Parts: sequence; C-alpha cells; structure tokens
Amino acid sequence: MALDLTILVGTMTGTAQLVAQALELALDDGDARVTVRPMDGLAADAFAGGGLFLICTSTYGQGDVPDNAKQLYESLQNERPDLADVRYGVIALGDRTYADTFCNGGRRFDAALAACGARRIGEILCHDASAGTMPEEVAEAWVGGWIALAREQLQLTA
Ligand SMILES: Cc1cc2nc3c(=O)[nH]c(=O)nc-3n(C[C@H](O)[C@H](O)[C@H](O)COP(=O)(O)O)c2cc1C
Repeated sequence: MALDLTILVGTMTGTAQLVAQALELALDDGDARVTVRPMDGLAADAFAGGGLFLICTSTYGQGDVPDNAKQLYESLQNERPDLADVRYGVIALGDRTYADTFCNGGRRFDAALAACGARRIGEILCHDASAGTMPEEVAEAWVGGWIALAREQLQLTA
C-alpha cells in the first residue's frame, strides 16, 4: 500500500529543495505518493488532518530556521495545535563549522512538533555541509530505512 508523504521544505539557497526533489524522484516507484511543499506562507494548519510528514530544512543565523520557514515555525509555537495524528521525520541541513548551532533549524522543528503531540519516526538525519558529502545522496540512502520504519509504525504492509 502506498504511503502519502508530504515533504515540507525550509531553505535559503535551495539545497533543501534539491534534497526534497531527489527524494520525490527516489520514492516515485509506487512506494509512496510524495508531495513537496516549500514552507513559504504556510502556517500550523498545514498539518491539519494529520498524516506523514518529512521536515527538510536548513539552519541560518544563530541556529534559526530559514526565512521561508519562520511563519510555520512561529505558528506552531504560538497556536500549539493538537498534532497527535501527525507522524514526522526530520532532515536537518547544517554545517559543523557552526558547532553550537549545528542543524538547529531541524532540531527546532522537531521540538515544536513534539510539543504539539506529533510523534517523530526515527532519528533526525543531520547533514554536515562541510563533510564533503552530497545531502541529496545521503538523504536518498537514508530514506528507505525511514519509510520502512514509518510503515511499521503506521502498521501498513507493502
Ligand atoms: C549565513 C549562514 C549561516 C548559517 N548558520 C548555520 C548554523 O547556525 N548552523 C548550522 O548547522 N548551519 C548553518 N549554516 C549552514 C547551512 O544551513 C547549510 O549550508 C545548508 O546546507 C544550506 O541549505 P539551504 O541551501 O537549503 O538553505 C549557515 C549557512 C550560512 C550561509
């Protein structure tokens, strides 16, 4: 049975969008029905109705979410909707050069979603831009395991 997955993209210079598009292609084999949505203009009601989400976001400033993600992030914090029917994963893009705030954008979304009762599937995938690996390749290698975990937790059989 195909999974419905929405990938929400927080990005400043497009890397997270590339990662999301690579995942959309990689999963486009009947395994999952993927919708990629830039976070621009979104608010907490983007999670209304629940479902399966991947937060794919970079980090800027003092460990902040990127500009296009701010409205969604603040809306989650201010409105605190009940997201008990939301399951999510996090792909956090960052750079270890920023040692104190490494991948904080993704970690912030994780904390905000958990505070609303949403449940994370698997560990956060943190990508280090200074590691010399391509984030889309790392994410593609990771996502199969994450989808398998999601199926397990949602009790869907292939
Ligand atoms: C001005 C600036 C500030 C950044 N601040 C952080 C940071 O605090 N923590 C971190 O882990 N990465 C930080 N990064 C790294 C980016 O999050 C990383 O390069 C990411 O891959 C960019 O993805 P994007 O193109 O989707 O925005 C920063 C990058 C820039 C250019």
